[in-house]
Amino acid sequence: MDGADPDRWSAVAEGWAELWGGYAQPVWRAILDASGARPGTRVLDVGCGSGDLLAFAAGLGLTAAGIDPAPGMVEQARARLPEADIRLGSAEPLPWPDAHFDLAVSVNALQFAEDTLDALAEMARVTTLAGHVAIANWAEAAQNDLDVIEKAVARAAGEDPLPDGELRQPGGLERLFAEGGLEVVSAGLVPLPWHAADDDTLVRGVLLGEDQATMAARAPAVLAAAGGYRTADGGYRLVNAFRYAVARHRP
Ligand SMILES: C[S@@+](CC[C@H](N)C(=O)[O-])C[C@H]1O[C@@H](n2cnc3c(N)ncnc32)[C@H](O)[C@@H]1O
Repeated sequence: MDGADPDRWSAVAEGWAELWGGYAQPVWRAILDASGARPGTRVLDVGCGSGDLLAFAAGLGLTAAGIDPAPGMVEQARARLPEADIRLGSAEPLPWPDAHFDLAVSVNALQFAEDTLDALAEMARVTTLAGHVAIANWAEAAQNDLDVIEKAVARAAGEDPLPDGELRQPGGLERLFAEGGLEVVSAGLVPLPWHAADDDTLVRGVLLGEDQATMAARAPAVLAAAGGYRTADGGYRLVNAFRYAVARHRP
């Protein structure tokens, strides 16, 4: 699906919350640790989706704010965190004043911004001089069982698989921060297991965003490609990975 289209994200907001929303939790932990977040830290999540990171941060006593251009996602996030400052909008420009947050984070979202460097500059602008900016996204295809399945599905449909974007490559996030004039203080690769309880969940998770007809047509290819990831209880376990980097303003 077109990841830059807010209507497409709105349409899948509920499914996203159910199937993928909490997926990157180990990466959130790495980012919050590396940035020294503690109760009271003001964190902004850019492209906050269904608000899962915000709920996690709020649970740790952080002050959570978020923004997302998809009304359906914002609705999910606000329902989860009625007190939080969650706005409808995109990464560029951000509707907050300079130095309003201690940490600006974006997980699996900045690649959809119109201009990644402009979006990064906005995240840096709304962060205090002593604060941090963090980005995380999928690692390159070779790290992800999900990519094996997606490539098989694309081949079966006679399509070319999408190439990896620059930010997914080793060093991609570090290069972006360097270009944006920020200094990386921590970066890493975090393995993320994803479980699907049954065939239906697997197909809905892999093909999230496709219409019913496409899902039905592609389900056999998904199931055939996922055979190697079956678990004894009839479910599936895929291991994927995210890359993250945390940076600060240059002194
Ligand atoms: C893959 S989801 C990730 C959501 C959430 N960050 C998470 O990790 O669960 C991508 C999100 O980016 C949002 N998005 C798309 N274009 C954006 C933009 N230009 N600025 C900010 N967010 C954007 C989408 O609406 C969607 O909620």
